[in-house]
Amino acid sequence: MDNNKRPDSMQRITTPELAEAFISEQVEAIRQQVGDKKVLLALSGGVDSSVVAALLIKAIGRNLVCVHVNHGLLRKGEPEQVIEVFRNQMKANLIYIDAVDRFLDKLAGVSDPETKRKIIGNEFIEVFAEEARKLDGVSLLAQGTIWPDILESEGGIKAHHNAGGLPDDLNFELVEPVRILFKDEVRVVGSELGLPDGMVYRQPFPGPGLGVRCVGAITRDRLEAVRESDAILREEFAKNGLAGKVWQYFTIVPDFRTTGIRDGQRSYDWPVVIRAVNTRDAMSATVEDVPFALLQHITDRITHEVAGVNRVLYDLTPKPTGTIEWE
Ligand code: XMP
Repeated sequence: MDNNKRPDSMQRITTPELAEAFISEQVEAIRQQVGDKKVLLALSGGVDSSVVAALLIKAIGRNLVCVHVNHGLLRKGEPEQVIEVFRNQMKANLIYIDAVDRFLDKLAGVSDPETKRKIIGNEFIEVFAEEARKLDGVSLLAQGTIWPDILESEGGIKAHHNAGGLPDDLNFELVEPVRILFKDEVRVVGSELGLPDGMVYRQPFPGPGLGVRCVGAITRDRLEAVRESDAILREEFAKNGLAGKVWQYFTIVPDFRTTGIRDGQRSYDWPVVIRAVNTRDAMSATVEDVPFALLQHITDRITHEVAGVNRVLYDLTPKPTGTIEWE
């Protein structure tokens, strides 16, 4: 199969059998392209990079070098899951980089959303490039580019950023084994490769992570409030059958405090905002009609379990006028 273009006649990969055929073809193609050379991959734990990792592990084993950068803005349990699935279960060659202090120090005091995004993006490239330079004999870079990325960059809708950004001295040949797939097909292939459902069917998560949900200048304590409240929301949505139904759901912690009462004393703490939306393409979105009793239960848990929080709000705003994220 021509690996660069999706053939018009290509059948949509919807079944384990079709996924298996795709996997066999790609494993063969990867082996032909790569030979006994080493391949580098930035493994975020997102759907696309995880599926690419699993495919390459199947094809070339430990000649794939995965780099997982923890920038401190990941959801609760994410770095642990990447290590468990890839290092412990799949026996991948995985380099884990704890860059939490580095990112949070750079972000300290920065309140402008676009500046925050730029700092996170640039710092990520810098950390990854530093790691790449330390490795000898790696000449290929694997990426989780998918077919909509190609269509959108060809159509001029957005620059296809996957390949971009690395400094000129890092001149890699690209390996992009899922580039002809749509997202739903990537998920079917991921399941067939044995990745856990929690990884393959997870909701979208922005590159700047929890950083855009800790509104304004990020502080470690408020970031923890975002992470812990998000974990409670995800747990409750999973328990109550909403996890597979709602497109995206998360919490936000704004950078102001309000008065409350705790243990008979005045408290002065942050609010947590819950957002749960449905959409087809993220260009517009509607708000999920979450049962009121469940919202009350989640409020009870967040206000009692998350340090520094005394109030919970539900964001009723569709897109437009609100964007999905708060920054
Ligand atoms: P908005 O907030 O623009 O979000 O309505 C639409 C979708 O895009 C995600 N999003 C991002 N994803 N980097 C990403 O990789 C970003 O900077 C970013 N900003 C928003 C958002 O989570 C939603 O799914």
